Amino acid sequence: MSVEILRSVAALRGWRQRPGSVGLVPTMGALHAGHASLVSAARAENDRVVVSLFVNPTQFGPGEDYQAYPREEGADLALLGSLGADAAFLPAVEEVYPPGDATRVMPGPIATLLEGARRPGHFTGVATVVTKLLAMTEPDRAYFGQKDFQQLRVVQSVARDLALRAEIVPCPIVRDADGLALSSRNAYLSPEERVLALSLSRGLTAAAAAHGRGERDADRLRAIASDIASQAGTPDYVSVAEPLTLRELTGAADRAVILLACRVGKTRLIDNVLLGLPLEELRAGV
Ligand code: PAJ
Repeated sequence: MSVEILRSVAALRGWRQRPGSVGLVPTMGALHAGHASLVSAARAENDRVVVSLFVNPTQFGPGEDYQAYPREEGADLALLGSLGADAAFLPAVEEVYPPGDATRVMPGPIATLLEGARRPGHFTGVATVVTKLLAMTEPDRAYFGQKDFQQLRVVQSVARDLALRAEIVPCPIVRDADGLALSSRNAYLSPEERVLALSLSRGLTAAAAAHGRGERDADRLRAIASDIASQAGTPDYVSVAEPLTLRELTGAADRAVILLACRVGKTRLIDNVLLGLPLEELRAGV
């Protein structure tokens, strides 16, 4: 099936006016099976599905990989066709940020922790582009991966605070058979680095197993994840956090998310695991 290609907001609005419910899957392209799972979830719950592919300049900091970020439009459109997506929105930068554009959406304290502390302005860029995409598309539902857990929580809080109409739907992390969380940035890894990177998911799995056996001490869970993850490189952070606020836990971690970031060679990877809280419970947008 071929995908309808929309490059302007006007074309997207025209497409939206046709009847039926609409699911939006925002992406930056270089699509993989993680993105595909979001498209399938949207396909199952909506009459029509539109996927946005836009490498958003405002969420990249100086010295980050905005220029180098993989762009694979042809392959992406072929994949979207095979997944049964109805439309792809591929705007130019000026379409999303027209001349004179100055408004930014600044999320609350959740955006200052973890990724937000290491990548100043990142979540303002994410919140701004997601708000724009929701305003342009007016979808019934929008799909986000647990892979970027803090982003998911930031988007949910923005949607709640600004009373946005779309339901924000969380989707589980898709991993390779060996456990590595799929990411467009995995393309930067050498074969040796890819092997090292497995320590990240291994650390999280070991901590989750300990939690499953009854370990509730946040410091011990952090140490288990950190010891193994450190074999990949020096982690930026290993956090055992309260899953809604992402505030660091001390003491009992009945319900927690363990989040980590680590540079493997030159490539910065993130991963996480939820403990004691099914992802579906986050669908309510708490
Ligand atoms: P991108 O990194 O392309 O990811 C698009 C969506 O796919 C995000 O919701 C992300 O969490 C999800 N995703 C990525 N890898 C995944 C995996 N292994 N399993 C499940 N879902 C996965 O995230 C962004 O783009 C941007 O910040 C965006 C929200 C599009 C705003 O520019």
